[in-house]
Amino acid sequence: MDILEKNWPTDGWGEQKAQNFFEVAISERSAALGSHVCFAHMDPPTPSVASHLVGLNAAHNQNLLHPDLSPFASLVERRLFEWLAPMYGMSDGHMCSGSTIGNLTGLWAAREAGAMRVIASADAHLSIPKAAHLLGMSYQSVPTLSNGQMNSSALAGDITNAAVVLTAGTTGRGAIDPLDAEYNALWTHVDAAWAAPLMLTKHNDLLVGIDRADSLVISAHKWFYQPKDSALVLFKSAKTRDNISFNADYLASPNIGIQGSRSAAAIPLMATLLAWGQSGLASRIEGDMQNAARVAAYIDADSTMSLKQQPTSGVFNWRPVQQDIDKVIAELKDVASHTIIDDEVWLRQVAANPHVDIDKVCERITQACLPPSYRG
Ligand SMILES: Cc1ncc(COP(=O)(O)O)c(C=O)c1O
Repeated sequence: MDILEKNWPTDGWGEQKAQNFFEVAISERSAALGSHVCFAHMDPPTPSVASHLVGLNAAHNQNLLHPDLSPFASLVERRLFEWLAPMYGMSDGHMCSGSTIGNLTGLWAAREAGAMRVIASADAHLSIPKAAHLLGMSYQSVPTLSNGQMNSSALAGDITNAAVVLTAGTTGRGAIDPLDAEYNALWTHVDAAWAAPLMLTKHNDLLVGIDRADSLVISAHKWFYQPKDSALVLFKSAKTRDNISFNADYLASPNIGIQGSRSAAAIPLMATLLAWGQSGLASRIEGDMQNAARVAAYIDADSTMSLKQQPTSGVFNWRPVQQDIDKVIAELKDVASHTIIDDEVWLRQVAANPHVDIDKVCERITQACLPPSYRG
């Protein structure tokens, strides 16, 4: 049902009525990312400390482009990078609205350093070929192994004019490319949009080699549980910023990166990290990882379902053996998402919701895979 005005009214409703209307519409008509069965997307439910501070930031309309309009927020962003960058072997960086922009920024820096082409796995996020296209760089997609990791043997030979993109947590199946592979490229960009926060957990061995990156992106609005638009782009060398900065007469300091005006996303992120501490963040992500392992084990043990692979970073895929997959996808629309692997449709589970009740998830999955005649 279309509840929106067909045309923009000549006379205004007044702010209170407009606010009330949207408050009700948003809460009634948004996906319930924190529901007990939502186990489907890389979009987490957000903690109230973060969503509250996004609103307060907006009320103060801070602008990170102008340090004098955001003195505290600029300090918070700098301190956040002092906390986080060394954990990944990086020394500098800035926030941006998402990893799409972060990937474009990292590959822009690679091109400024002399890279003429981009090499990434067939499972790389669409923002990688998009960035190569925008930057006028040629693009080579290399095959994945059966577990979804890049086949790094494709990186042999002279690739000294290339930027290699390794993904830590592929969008479709959560695979982590071999971050410690040996090759001879000009630049390595790691797209860790999804899996970077594993560094703070007992699973940090999955990210061995990430510190070899020249540039790295993290979507804080994924596994740092932030509201959008919140991502970090980080660089090994602090000098990289000079190559991706532009100045103008009206600016007090050069504009670094792609975005001009940008919000104070570092504040809700730092507030969340302070509220939870390192141990609180780790326990949430480790809980998500355990939930993924348990649901995958449940599916693996059931002959009516086929598990594609065990989850590496809280993401995995499966298919019903007998039931029509389109019907199962429709029935599990609030529980699972789907993707295509090797021309075949698979359901996709993503563990980004710490409030999930996996018994309820398993119950829904079982029910959806029963032939109609067996249903209660
Ligand atoms: C691996 C990977 N890279 C990049 C992106 C793009 O990130 P964003 O949606 O923050 O722009 C995604 C989004 O799902 C992703 O999974």
